[in-house]
Amino acid sequence: MDGNGRWAKQRGLPRLEGHRRGVETVRTVTDAAREMGIRYITLYAFSVENWRRPAEEVSGLMGLLDYFLKRELDTLIKNKVRLHTIGRTEDLPANVQRELNRVKAATAGFTEWNLVLALNYGARTEAADAARAYATAVRDGREKLEDCSWERFNRYLYTADIPEPDLLIRTSGETRISNFLMLQLAYAELIFTPTLWPEFGKSDLQAAVDEYNKRERRFGLTSEQIKAGTK
Ligand code: FPP
Repeated sequence: MDGNGRWAKQRGLPRLEGHRRGVETVRTVTDAAREMGIRYITLYAFSVENWRRPAEEVSGLMGLLDYFLKRELDTLIKNKVRLHTIGRTEDLPANVQRELNRVKAATAGFTEWNLVLALNYGARTEAADAARAYATAVRDGREKLEDCSWERFNRYLYTADIPEPDLLIRTSGETRISNFLMLQLAYAELIFTPTLWPEFGKSDLQAAVDEYNKRERRFGLTSEQIKAGTK
């Protein structure tokens, strides 16, 4: 969800105003995704690196998160959307953790629609946390070191219950991954758009999906094998 700061700066507004507008885009995009049949949507809302931003911006973002969770609970329930989080949420402020737990518990029974918030998330931190959890399982006799494979290791990532993304969209013209879902994106289609997040709308999401649908996903096979239906 990149470009909130630049959107605000272009208008002579404080950066937080851009994030505020960004929250409205979250609603627009999650509604549009559901209408389009996208069952999982993951938003990179706060990275492990974002703590180093000015204290005022960090506390403003935490406040917006709290506001968003309080405001969206009824809508998530009405639309049967389950909230998940990935990241070290245990380091978030206590009030945000409380709201997250409340919303997660209230939506835990839903299966069809899923909103995943990446909060205090970093792919390298995730890899280290998974390695530690895997090593603990080996030590405790729940895993065997010689059985270590991607399929087994995968179960120790924050995303164990969430399918790999098919499509990544990064807004605001930046063409980097920035420590986001680095292992899970191995075969994802990447789309970079110059549109700033506060201006990203349903038509932009549709355009990205149209572009995704034109691409051939080969997963290491040849085009001929894909056309012949090789699995
Ligand atoms: C990146 O734009 C955006 C963020 C670091 C924060 C995104 C958070 C929100 C939209 C609000 C809270 C989230 C939810 C789900 C309610 P930037 O600030 O890096 O923009 P810039 O590159 O233009 O400065």
